[in-house]
Amino acid sequence: MHDRLAPLYPQHLATVRERADRALALGGFDHLLVAAGTPPGRFLDDQDYPFAASPHFRHWLPLADAPGSWIAYTPGAKPKLVFVQPRDYWHVVPEAPRGYWVEHFDIVVVRSAAEAAAQLPGGRRAVIAPACPPIDGVEANNPRAVLDCLHWHRSYKTPYELELMREANRIGARAHRAAEAAFRAGESEFGIHLAYLAAARQVDAELPYASIVGLNEHGAVLHYTHFDRAPPAEHRAFLIDAGASCAGYASDITRTYAAAGHAGFQALVDSVDAAQRGFAAKVRAGQSYPELHVHAHHVLAGVLREHGFIRMSAESAVESGVTAAFFPHGLGHPIGLQVHDVAGFQQSERGGSIPRPAGHPYLRMTRTLEPGMVVTIEPGLYFIDMLLEELRAKPQAADVDWAKVDAFRGYGGIRIEDDVACTDGAPENLTRDAFAAA
Ligand code: GLY
Ligand code: MN
Ligand code: MN
Repeated sequence: MHDRLAPLYPQHLATVRERADRALALGGFDHLLVAAGTPPGRFLDDQDYPFAASPHFRHWLPLADAPGSWIAYTPGAKPKLVFVQPRDYWHVVPEAPRGYWVEHFDIVVVRSAAEAAAQLPGGRRAVIAPACPPIDGVEANNPRAVLDCLHWHRSYKTPYELELMREANRIGARAHRAAEAAFRAGESEFGIHLAYLAAARQVDAELPYASIVGLNEHGAVLHYTHFDRAPPAEHRAFLIDAGASCAGYASDITRTYAAAGHAGFQALVDSVDAAQRGFAAKVRAGQSYPELHVHAHHVLAGVLREHGFIRMSAESAVESGVTAAFFPHGLGHPIGLQVHDVAGFQQSERGGSIPRPAGHPYLRMTRTLEPGMVVTIEPGLYFIDMLLEELRAKPQAADVDWAKVDAFRGYGGIRIEDDVACTDGAPENLTRDAFAAA
C-alpha cells in the first residue's frame, strides 16, 4: 500500500496547494490555516467524544490522530505542520509523524494547543476550523469564498485519493464477506457487527459512519443503528450498510441478502441488483445525476410491476409518487473525505446551489458527472409501514397488490450500494472490483 501511495502523493499535494492558492486569491487572504480540531467533551464529565480530524486537514496529509495540530500554508512556501505532542502519561500520545509525506512539510512539534497557536502566521488568514469546541488562541473564520472554492475542487479526486478509496473499499468488502458469513451462521445483529469490525480491523469510532446491520423487518429502517443482542427466531433477510476508512477516506457499501429458502425475496434482491448495475454503468462524464435518479425511479417502478406489487404503468407510478413510497431516498451522493461529501449541490467554485428536482427532497447530488468525481449508487426498495399507510390512503392504492406487499413486510427492504468513480471512459466501480478481489 505504502509503495503505491508514495509515488502518487507529491502530485496530490501539488494539486491541493494549487487549489489552496486559488481559494486564497478568491477570498483575499494570504495564509490558509487548517485545524485538525479537538474532540468535544461530554457534558459535566472528564471524558471526550472520539476524535475525528477535520476533513480539510485530512485532505493535506494522511494523519487522523492529531488533535490540536495545524497545517499552515502560505502560497509559494513549503506547507508547515504544527504537530501537537503533549507531555502526557495518561493517554497514548500521537506518534511523531513519519512516512512518505513528511519530507513535504516543515514540521514543528509543540506540546500544547496554545504553543501551536503561537506557531501560526498572523495577518490576512483564512482559518478553517470547527467553531465548537473553540481552539485556544485562534479564532476560526471559515470564509465562505475559500470554503466554496475548496469544496468545489474536492469533487475531483486525485489519483492518490482514488487509491485510498480503492483500499477503503477493499477493507469494506472483506468485512462485508465476514458479515454475510455471520448472518448465514445465524448470528444476532450484534454478533454480525462484531464480525464486521474484526474483519475490517477497525473500531466503531474509526468507521466513516455508524454501521447499519438490520435483520428482517429492521431493513426497513433506513438508518437502523441499533444492534439486537439476540438472534431473531428466524433469519429471513439481512441488510448491511457499512463502510471502512483508509487514511481519512471513506467507503460506503450496502448489500442485502435473502436467507436460504426465501426465493421470492431473493428474486427481488436480484432485480434490484441488476437495476443497480445498470445505474452504476451510467456513471459517465456528462450524465446529469438528478436525471439518473429519476431514471432509477422508472426502472424500479418496472421492478415493482414485474414482481406484482403494483399494476399501474411505470410512468404513472413515478408521477403519482407510488415509487417514492418504496424508494424514499436519493440514488446516492458524492463520497470522499466524508461519506456524504461536500459540494453535491454546488453550481461553481464560487458557490451557488443547484436545486433538487421537484418531488425528490432527499437527493444529495444535483450536479452533472465529470471525470474524477466519485459517487455512490444506492437504489433501494423497502416495505416501510409509515409510508405504506400513506400510500393506502391515496387513490393509487387500488392499483397496489396489498396481499403481496404484506407478504414482504417481514423482509424489511433492499438496498444495494457501490462507490463508483467517473472517468474519461467507462466507470470504475470501486466496490464491485473490491468484492471481486476479496
Ligand atoms: N450509509 C449512509 C448512506 O448510504 O448514505
Ligand atoms: Mn450507505
Ligand atoms: Mn450512501
